[in-house]
Amino acid sequence: VSLRAYNTFGLDVKARLFARFASVEELRALLALPEVQQQETLVLGGGSNLLFTQDFMGVVLKNEILGLEVTAQDEATDTALVRAGAGESWHGMVQYALNQGLSGIENLSLIPGTVGAAPLQNIGAYGAELKDTFDHLEAVEISTGQLRTFTYEQCGFGYRESVFKGPLRNQFIVTGVVLRLRRRHQLNTSYGAIGTTLADMGIEAATPQDVSEAVIRIRRSKLPDPAQIGNAGSFFKNPELSRAKYEALKADYPGLPGYSVPGGVKVPAAWLIEQCGWKGRRFGAHGVHDQQALVLVNHGGAQGAAIRDLAHEIIASVRAKFGVELHPEVNIL
Ligand code: EPU
Repeated sequence: VSLRAYNTFGLDVKARLFARFASVEELRALLALPEVQQQETLVLGGGSNLLFTQDFMGVVLKNEILGLEVTAQDEATDTALVRAGAGESWHGMVQYALNQGLSGIENLSLIPGTVGAAPLQNIGAYGAELKDTFDHLEAVEISTGQLRTFTYEQCGFGYRESVFKGPLRNQFIVTGVVLRLRRRHQLNTSYGAIGTTLADMGIEAATPQDVSEAVIRIRRSKLPDPAQIGNAGSFFKNPELSRAKYEALKADYPGLPGYSVPGGVKVPAAWLIEQCGWKGRRFGAHGVHDQQALVLVNHGGAQGAAIRDLAHEIIASVRAKFGVELHPEVNIL
């Protein structure tokens, strides 16, 4: 089975077996099959955070569990719980929430991928992260088929991190996610990010819908549409430096952006990569996006291994020039 349509890099790799499931019961039935138990499994949501460097010699399970509903209202806090099946598109959940008059995830508009994948890497953009509205999730344990609930604390969220990328990697399949959203909105447009806040960009946001539309505009202007140019969003995480290291680098490179985080200063990997001359470089079928140096792209027909090798060259050049270690954000398989 070709996985080309199932990864946003558009890589033409194969899987030995491929199956879809649309409910917890169907997933359990699949997990009970000997041919599934005997092989490595890979659960695909939108395939938007993956780089295949070779064929996958196991079973790919495509999560197609749907459903969007408001499951509870809390008058006291003026919040509501919204539940989504893990196979729903993330942006679909954002739009559903806005249509219900609920806010809290509008800054995360247009992030590719599914609801089920969102907690794995604690998706984030424009000063908001999934964890900020997260209530709990449900997941099936691969080894037992049992359904388990994970609270906020149990998910171990960090910057583009969760327990499901760490100690519980490949052990659970997320089937549903529940968020707590607000009826009365508090807009978050002051994200100091690294220079350019939504407010700085002249976004006169009156409603969550306005914020959503602004975020969509900005994303469309910087990030390539996977339907046109294969990519998986930011390929690397933004590195966090000690304050001392940041000040030392800033003395040599006064233009270095950065913003304070509890442990030190976070700097944009895109800036470091651009300074190393990579932005917009093209090597046949693959390269570095010309509007955002943090995004590696497949212009059509690229090999995953070539993209991985390019990532390694970028890491080495940033290390040599700045003494900073970049880490991929994308899962490399
Ligand atoms: N910059 C450059 N060159 C570039 C692009 C950016 O020098 O080619 C510098 C500029 O100084 C700019 C700063 O980097 O002000 C920040 O750029 P941007 O706002 O585009 O954000 P980012 O730090 O590169 C992060 C997330 C994105 C998220 C944006 C907006 C990570 C790894 N990436 O990128 O998330 O959309 O902020 O909040 O944290 C993703 O994870 O796939 C993703 C797209």
